[in-house]
Amino acid sequence: MTPVTTAVLSALAEEQRGLLERLQRPQRVNRAGREFWLGELHGTPVVLALSRIGKVAAATTTTTLIEAFGAQRLVFTGVAGGIAPGVQVGDVVVAQAFVQHDMDASPLFPRYQIPLYGRERFACDAVMSEALLAATRAGLSHLGLPATVHHGLIASGDRFVSAAEEARQLRAALSEAGHAPLAVEMEGAAVAQVCHDYAIPYAAVRTISDRADDTAHVDFPKFVTEVASRYALAIIDEFVRRMTK
Ligand code: ADE
Repeated sequence: MTPVTTAVLSALAEEQRGLLERLQRPQRVNRAGREFWLGELHGTPVVLALSRIGKVAAATTTTTLIEAFGAQRLVFTGVAGGIAPGVQVGDVVVAQAFVQHDMDASPLFPRYQIPLYGRERFACDAVMSEALLAATRAGLSHLGLPATVHHGLIASGDRFVSAAEEARQLRAALSEAGHAPLAVEMEGAAVAQVCHDYAIPYAAVRTISDRADDTAHVDFPKFVTEVASRYALAIIDEFVRRMTK
């Protein structure tokens, strides 16, 4: 039986670097103006890619991973802004589902509903998400970084949220509609929608780089270079190792 190809999608080059260094039999292929890296991690066939930033870019990368590289499951690592109380910088969120906080086709469709899908949320694969939760806990504790790990809803939109009042309003409006998110970022819901279209299992993990408040733009780059890359490598290495067993 041909082994399943796992796509590992990173939001940032810093997060991909460590994985690329460990990639066995690496082969670079250019497609859709993007670089894709084929190879093996712990003997498992993988394809590594950068999502790029924003929902459309992430959807193009995801579609290419599935259509051109035959990805049969997809795992995403990135950073996010924490917007629920208690979701702090350095915590980690494993997604249960995604909502688009900037989707608004009202009054034609209810606020947040994706037109013609009849739903506001796309759920992640439960089995893969459990494995990602376990790999996150184990990977970070091996690193000596026992971070708080949350599991819940993430909101995506084409906006870097960098004002406390905006973050409060965004969370209040989503909560009112029954979609209280733990964190915000800019790609996850698009990847989830494409994976739904192709019936490809998907799981995602985001390290909290900022609180989506007035210092978010300062906290974000500092966190990415100093912490996120090490977290991403530890988590994905453990995740792939566990799937290979
Ligand atoms: N990714 C990391 N921090 C973010 C923020 N504050 N808003 C949107 N995406 C993010």
